[in-house]
Amino acid sequence: MPSKIFKILENLYVNSIFIDKIGLSFNQFIVVSKDKKITIIETGFRNDFSALSTNITSCGLSPENIENVIVPHFEADEMGAIPEILKVSKQKLKVYAHPICTFGLNDIFNVRAKPVNDNEVISVFEGCSLKFIHTKHVHQWDSLVVYWIEQKILFSSDLFIQKGEFTGINDENCITEIIDSIYKENYLPSRTHLNHALDKIKENKINIIFPMHGSGLSHHIDFYIDSLKELTF
Ligand SMILES: [Fe+2]
Ligand SMILES: [Fe+2]
Repeated sequence: MPSKIFKILENLYVNSIFIDKIGLSFNQFIVVSKDKKITIIETGFRNDFSALSTNITSCGLSPENIENVIVPHFEADEMGAIPEILKVSKQKLKVYAHPICTFGLNDIFNVRAKPVNDNEVISVFEGCSLKFIHTKHVHQWDSLVVYWIEQKILFSSDLFIQKGEFTGINDENCITEIIDSIYKENYLPSRTHLNHALDKIKENKINIIFPMHGSGLSHHIDFYIDSLKELTF
């Protein structure tokens, strides 16, 4: 399955693996500090880590420098590669997740994961302050999304996902693709939980959304949030 890495900003790369059979891409977000330490949001599947590692190296970066891992919820595509990262990282690895998720991570991977509170801000390096927004039951009870304050980027995990390959940042209106995914996969919870999460997300000024499946989104952010609030399911 093809795996590609895209440079989005001087200090942000998106690695994406497309699985033909299900028509879905799986994205990992690599944020780089001035001294080339890596914070990775979503690890991807364990079996895909060697491809991710090769792609990171092709950008002049080193998997040995992975210092922080952000896990938006306890699911294989979000945290499966943690054992492989533990093998290659030469840093004092820190893993951040929702408190419920950290129980599972500590028990299974023995990583001493750090629980983050709702709306807690952690500066992982200069110029990268990450705000962790709990989005309970969207679509797991330990879910959260991550807002990069300086860049006004939301890493939205399984919200705003679309089928198809990652193609960069799409400034066209993708609402049909986003809604199609919601109805076809039937993966979102009750309106109450979803609306609560969307309201919390909307409090932040967002220029770009990067979901973990599909392309980045811009230009229509408020419209996407409001449209999801009007859906019936
Ligand atoms: Fe998920
Ligand atoms: Fe996912």
